[in-house]
Amino acid sequence: MTRLRNPFSLKPDAGRKRHDAAAPQRTHSPNKPITIAITSGKGGVGKSNIAVNLATSIQQRGQQVTLVDLDMGLANADVLLNASPAHNLGHVIRGSKSVQEVAHRVGQGLTLIAGVPSGAEGIRNTTQIDQLVSEIKSASSEFIIFDCAAGIGFNVTHFARAADVVLVVTTPEPTALVDAYATVKTLCKEGYDGSVRLLVNMVESRQEARKAFSRVRDACEKFINFDIAEAGYVLHDTHVELAVRQREPFAQRYPKCSASLCISVIATRLVGAHAGTNGQNKGIFQRVAGMF
Ligand SMILES: Nc1ncnc2c1ncn2[C@@H]1O[C@H](COP(=O)(O)OP(=O)(O)OP(=O)(O)O)[C@@H](O)[C@H]1O
Ligand SMILES: [Mg+2]
Repeated sequence: MTRLRNPFSLKPDAGRKRHDAAAPQRTHSPNKPITIAITSGKGGVGKSNIAVNLATSIQQRGQQVTLVDLDMGLANADVLLNASPAHNLGHVIRGSKSVQEVAHRVGQGLTLIAGVPSGAEGIRNTTQIDQLVSEIKSASSEFIIFDCAAGIGFNVTHFARAADVVLVVTTPEPTALVDAYATVKTLCKEGYDGSVRLLVNMVESRQEARKAFSRVRDACEKFINFDIAEAGYVLHDTHVELAVRQREPFAQRYPKCSASLCISVIATRLVGAHAGTNGQNKGIFQRVAGMF
């Protein structure tokens, strides 16, 4: 099995606009959940698998997690979790259910808010997104994870901007790296004031992850004067596909496989930072700075 090293390296001001370094930072009540948006430019880079397994891994550490499937019309977190919720976000959008009523308990500590199925009415405007986000954020979880759709459509970036941390997922493929850069650029242009971090998935080695990260970081520094932070990496691992076929998170089914160990490192950091600062009057940047 591949030996894992700590995949994290964080400059203190990473994940923020350089020219905005003196601007007021996003503040965050310590008793509110930390919201993490998992997003990407290119599709199929592993967002849903990372969202589901990060949620599982955090929940295994005794935290309450709410996973929200925001891939409108192409929702599949319920499939990955082998869950059959009776209701989903489509019912909330239509006004027939509240977010609380569609929340589906998957296991101890993990709640799924299933996404809009294909053919159902999706989000129409940003006001609807804001209402939905504020309802979701009132959930009594320590962590809320958004599994977003790929791309830079208004609904994707609007959901992402509501999160404290945006994890932009990429693979080492040049096309995915270019699209990851485009995602960061869009968030930056839209004035996102949270923390933007790059997660490189399906890598063969730590070195490959570092190289991919450097390429996106360099482009962000050069063209948009924006510091992006390294969130970590997940190794390419055949157990991921096996677990998908078995409809069980790989972090649960194969806890010792290399992909699970990578996810575990990320989850441990997230939970450690949360536990270490919970109940104290600290801003979100101080809390997430300790995560990576
Ligand atoms: N670390 C990994 N190792 C091997 N295969 C992986 C890994 N991560 C994801 N995959 C595979 O990549 C495929 C796409 O994964 P996933 O559906 O999570 O991507 P996505 O970014 O959510 O896609 P979409 O943009 O369509 O929502 C799946 O077949 C999954 O099994
Ligand atoms: Mg997906």
